Amino acid sequence: MRILNVITSNPGKLVEFQRALGNDFELVHLPVGYTEVQTDSLEEVVERGIDELLSRGLDDFIIDDSGLFVDSLSGFPGVYSAYAFKTLGNAGLLRLMEDERNARFRCCIGCHTAEAGRLVVCAECPGSITRDLRGTDGFGFDPVFVPDGQDLTFAEMGLADKNHISHRGLAITAFARELGGRLDR
Ligand code: IMP
Repeated sequence: MRILNVITSNPGKLVEFQRALGNDFELVHLPVGYTEVQTDSLEEVVERGIDELLSRGLDDFIIDDSGLFVDSLSGFPGVYSAYAFKTLGNAGLLRLMEDERNARFRCCIGCHTAEAGRLVVCAECPGSITRDLRGTDGFGFDPVFVPDGQDLTFAEMGLADKNHISHRGLAITAFARELGGRLDR
């Protein structure tokens, strides 16, 4: 059994990672932080996070970062989504919107293990911002985001359906496949 440290401020994510990675890995929550560099790019936050953790002597870890990127707001709130949610909330985001509503959630997962090396996998879920808050499930911007091809918001559809199409669900599945492939070689 391989041990992987999950470095996250939200230990709830361990369950999702554990489900995707299966019994080959034991996931352990490691309560350490890393600097989130000032950049517009989730990939860069994750790449620099890996560099910093390695330079502190840590290894065999997973980190992840995600956010909501609204086209008409030039990608805002993007990497600042957690802060924007805390300060503006969903109602504040809706007030910033005009007619054009396209947006996407993105998620990047970064990992380094002695055996597999460095791995960064990103995925996105395109969709649009609603005109009103809809639904009570989930967290964050879920009540104002309808994925392309769907009628329901993330907060209306329930976690199982959300995980099939969400940025995080897609990134975790792709990450698990890629990591498994590297370790089988
Ligand atoms: P984190 O990097 O996964 O912690 O996400 C940063 C912020 O992006 C969260 O605090 C949320 O505001 C927003 N966010 C990320 N993923 C989701 C999601 O699946 N639903 C709603 N909001 C999300």
